[in-house]
Amino acid sequence: MTKNFLFYLLISVGLLSACHRQPEKYSTWSVYGGSKDNIHYSAAHQIDTDNVGQLRPAWEYHTGDADSNSQIQVNSIIVDGILYGVSPRLKIFALDAATGKLKWSFDPARPDGGVIQKMALNVCRGIAYYRGSAEDQRLFYSAGSSLYCIDALTGCPVPSFGENGMIDLHDDLGRDVKDLYVAGTTPGIIYKDLLIVGDRVAEEAAAAPGHIRAYDVHTGRLRWIFHTIPYPGEEGYSSWADTAAYKHLGGANAWSGFSLDEDKGVLFSPVGSASFDFYGGRRIGDDLFANCVIALDAATGRRIWHYQTVHHDVWDRDPPTPPIPVTVQKDGRTIAAVVQVTKSGLVFLLDRSTGQPLYPVVERPVPSVSELAGEKLSPTQPVPTVLPSFARRSLTEADLNTLVPDSSYQDIKKKLAGYHSNPFDPPSREGTVIFPGFDGGAEWGGPAYDPTTGLLYVNANEMPWILTMVNSAPPPAAAGGMNVGQAARALFTANCMTCHGPERQGGGNYPSLIGMKKKYTEDQFLTLVSSGRRMMPAFRQLSPAEKHALAAFILDNTPSEQRPFVNDNKTPEDPYFHLPYTSTGYNKFVTKEGYPAVMPPWGTLTAIDLNKAAIVWRDTLGDYPELKARGIHSGTENYGGPVVTAGGLLFIAATSDAKFRAFNKRTGQLLWETDLPAAGFATPSVYTVDGRQYVVIACGGGKLHKKSGDSYVAFALP
Ligand code: HEC
Repeated sequence: MTKNFLFYLLISVGLLSACHRQPEKYSTWSVYGGSKDNIHYSAAHQIDTDNVGQLRPAWEYHTGDADSNSQIQVNSIIVDGILYGVSPRLKIFALDAATGKLKWSFDPARPDGGVIQKMALNVCRGIAYYRGSAEDQRLFYSAGSSLYCIDALTGCPVPSFGENGMIDLHDDLGRDVKDLYVAGTTPGIIYKDLLIVGDRVAEEAAAAPGHIRAYDVHTGRLRWIFHTIPYPGEEGYSSWADTAAYKHLGGANAWSGFSLDEDKGVLFSPVGSASFDFYGGRRIGDDLFANCVIALDAATGRRIWHYQTVHHDVWDRDPPTPPIPVTVQKDGRTIAAVVQVTKSGLVFLLDRSTGQPLYPVVERPVPSVSELAGEKLSPTQPVPTVLPSFARRSLTEADLNTLVPDSSYQDIKKKLAGYHSNPFDPPSREGTVIFPGFDGGAEWGGPAYDPTTGLLYVNANEMPWILTMVNSAPPPAAAGGMNVGQAARALFTANCMTCHGPERQGGGNYPSLIGMKKKYTEDQFLTLVSSGRRMMPAFRQLSPAEKHALAAFILDNTPSEQRPFVNDNKTPEDPYFHLPYTSTGYNKFVTKEGYPAVMPPWGTLTAIDLNKAAIVWRDTLGDYPELKARGIHSGTENYGGPVVTAGGLLFIAATSDAKFRAFNKRTGQLLWETDLPAAGFATPSVYTVDGRQYVVIACGGGKLHKKSGDSYVAFALP
């Protein structure tokens, strides 16, 4: 064979496989995130950089069930001209994707629809679709802890799956967690006839383990489980100093979704922090596989490799997005890799078959002494040194917000001086700055990746938060002789304060609990605490007497507070659930006026060339109208990811100003923006029906104190 012949052979094979794969793979949006590699890329190019300015709403669908602070975080899927979405109250529905006309909807709260209580509203980010044949098409989605299998053609539960079309995610976790919080938020992913799922669990000490599970799509039977908190004899077991940890500790959950290398049958999963987030005295060690990127054999759940991005996490720095498969050019080689973006604004690029970093990552020495008794911090933490970070990572006096009146500036300056503010400073009583904050850096929206250019797009928040630790009260059972009021206060400190604050004043995304008497009857309160609602976990582990005590306290029924507290025959509390410290809540570090204490930008959009390990462009994302009027382009906190298209565009909503925008994907130039009926805290989907390209976004609002919405809006060219 001549050299030339070989050359042509290679070229044509290359072209053939390129043509064979790409358009097929990225021309539909039948999977959460666009495709199983979850890269938010669409090969559609009818809408392009020239005509994007002409985009108009093609249809708007109202779910009709929003309430005062409901949300929709859903990335819709579209199959054969039908769009599947989920409403604020977790109804799943099917629309004609060209007209927005309703075909069917299923309400998990209706009497014949299953067990979910009306108040047990969780967040649902999407749906997994499975096609066995033209007649056998299934949708899998979660409403709280109930995972449903719905017939895609009729909207009815499939009776042969689980129990009448439903399985309870509390089951199959290897220990009894029926009283703990477990809920599906991000949809699972389909591999052959398996549905692979992760879940959300509590971040407090009383938490279920976040094991990754694969279910048979036909029967709902468990086919494999991967222990994210390893059992004796399993890899990673010795990274927990306490040999009984696996029986009691929770968290280490895959809450932000997966990606799949379908050809090789490899699942990539992010694994979250171990619970309790902020005190690790009961989980000494590196805590594998918490805070890891992990590659599993999708058919068996066998671990192939893992890479830990934070050792012994005490800051809730879990990987907030799925790691995604990418192909990079480096040193003249083409390398299959996966990329993980983090809440801290870091980018980890790992070899897809070994998990080894492609660019240097140093183990940087970090503060290793905690003032919290029993804590044992990791002496080092991994930090990439070549790949650029996409967010500011430390807050100094020079970074403070000077756009506010001087008295307000002096106030944040004084506060900052009293906080611990270096990256990786441990949780403290004085307050530790978490920057970027608990919601990133990157968040669950996830990045977009363009396989034709090698550019990675990530939107980020730059909001500082303050983490403050306090001693916990002893558990009421242990302290005899309490009256109801004292017991309630102890229960509140142990269970509720991390979110609702020491004075019940709320903060961040958590509401104040002042004045609840006007809002809830005792019965309604008890239901709410037992079943949870959206970001509020369920407290099934509390006994009736404990819940009544809390009700007396929070609904301000003072007379009953004097009665002696008698706990009913409650199963004894797992001692691992009681820790010596707790935190005072998720508090943003803001000025008196409510602006972030740091100078803008507060929201950003960054394009990173993975082949060059360099930032190509960065934009400020979003506006505060009153600052914009003063000529200040500040950016806003943002939730929901971008989508990149072959038409040269990057679509993103996500900001609190309720805009939907399209940027030139190569330059970052803003080409189009429009107002949405409510903020689109979700990732858009791009699809084509009968030759017409649409881009659809869920407009649910409800975060960042923005009004809630109930609509899905699709845009197309006129
Ligand atoms: C992980 C954070 C978290 C914890 C812990 C938590 N909550 Fe909540 N709570 C929330 C969130 C978020 C909401 C708002 C839910 C929604 O979207 O409707 C909420 C709402 C509430 C409400 C309704 C507020 C309103 O204005 O309608 C009550 C009452 C409440 N929580 C009580 C409690 C009690 C009692 C505890 C402890 C047993 C507790 N919460 C623990 C996050 C939390």
